[in-house]
Amino acid sequence: MHTSTVGILGGGTMGAGIAQVAAMHGWMVELREVDEPTARRAVDSIVRRLDQLAEKGRLTPEERDDAESRLCLARCPDCLGDCELIIEAIVERLDVKAAAFRELLPSLRPDAILATNTSSLSVTTLGEAVGQPQRLVGMHFFNPAPLMKLVEVIAGERSDAAAVDRVAQIAQQWGKVVARASDSPGFIVNHVARPYYLEAFRILEAGHAAVEEIDAAMRDVGGFRMGPLELADLIGMDINTAAARSVWEQLGRPALLEPSALQERIVAAGHLGRKAKRGCYDYAVEPPAPAIEVERRPIELTGAERDLVARIAQRGAVKPGSDLQNYIFARILVCIFAQAAMACRRGVAQREDIDTAMRYGVNYPRGPFEWMRLIGPDLCDQWLAALAASSGSDRYRLAPLAEVAG
Ligand code: NAI
Repeated sequence: MHTSTVGILGGGTMGAGIAQVAAMHGWMVELREVDEPTARRAVDSIVRRLDQLAEKGRLTPEERDDAESRLCLARCPDCLGDCELIIEAIVERLDVKAAAFRELLPSLRPDAILATNTSSLSVTTLGEAVGQPQRLVGMHFFNPAPLMKLVEVIAGERSDAAAVDRVAQIAQQWGKVVARASDSPGFIVNHVARPYYLEAFRILEAGHAAVEEIDAAMRDVGGFRMGPLELADLIGMDINTAAARSVWEQLGRPALLEPSALQERIVAAGHLGRKAKRGCYDYAVEPPAPAIEVERRPIELTGAERDLVARIAQRGAVKPGSDLQNYIFARILVCIFAQAAMACRRGVAQREDIDTAMRYGVNYPRGPFEWMRLIGPDLCDQWLAALAASSGSDRYRLAPLAEVAG
């Protein structure tokens, strides 16, 4: 049987994870790093994970051995000469990524596809910097790559359609679910997910609810696996704010995505989340304790607002909660819907791909469009209008969801 070979540039968090996925699905892997000891460490880390899977019975001893035998160190550019696909997962800098590809070009098969795992750079611009825009495709995995099901496949403006299709097919062969996106800031997930964090910080900053109340509402009422504030701590507050700022700037500063001043103050104080042992929570104690104090200004809902959020929770929540919980859930959720609608209008992706991306890339219990239809887009529009009226902010004055709900 003909065995396919993938070259992977970078054996850090993402590169090692992607290499593991490919090797476990029968592909030969040529892993290239900055030097041999670093490459060796990356392979060792993959082999340790294969051992753990074998110990848990998720891989048979033969499958473990086969996967290990497919991992090779690419000591020179020519080692990548057989590869059908090269995926780069190196530092997030366009010049470094472009130089890494350019160095390899003379050694590669003329039909080898080049793929980038970038989270924030333009696939089109990188393809042009490499000098081969038709061969370059975005192949965006999520961390940890062996566990997260989603791969966003991104067509650059000049990507060859056959190359894009082939990348999608390979991702599926590797057991992944594919969402296709155009080359736009944050692609799907890192774009549509922004209000999950931003609205949570706005509710916190306004003093309407405490850190743990916001997280609990989204978990218990919304059915999300993690609340937005604990998730921002896990991602890293610096990474999360940088993504927020970059998407906001690149999209022309839409009011809905305006970065949170409170979150930026948290970053400036060095409270970067779990990795710094402090963010929205203090991780020096067990269980972690809320670490952000704000002056409480309880929300006063009118009868009509209370009724709206109760109806939204009735239809869309796993379990409707208190007025405050329903308010938190309904407010954060419709802002995600609004962002999903904006992404759809801008041609970032189709509704089905946006739903797939949010379910498999960040484990949302439902895709935004499916959820919007379940609740009723008219009801969501009424709630956005109520938020616009009560806040006096343009942020919630948005094009009707009913037009794009599908
Ligand atoms: P990392 O810092 O863990 O790993 C990068 C690796 O690339 C390092 O081991 C480094 O030695 C190696 N490297 C640097 N220059 C190289 C070169 N010229 N040739 C070969 N190897 C080289 O970084 P991480 O987190 O794995 O990110 C890599 C890429 O994946 C970035 O573009 C990032 O935006 C993207 N990404 C990261 C995610 C995450 O959650 N960490 C999720 C999805 C995408």
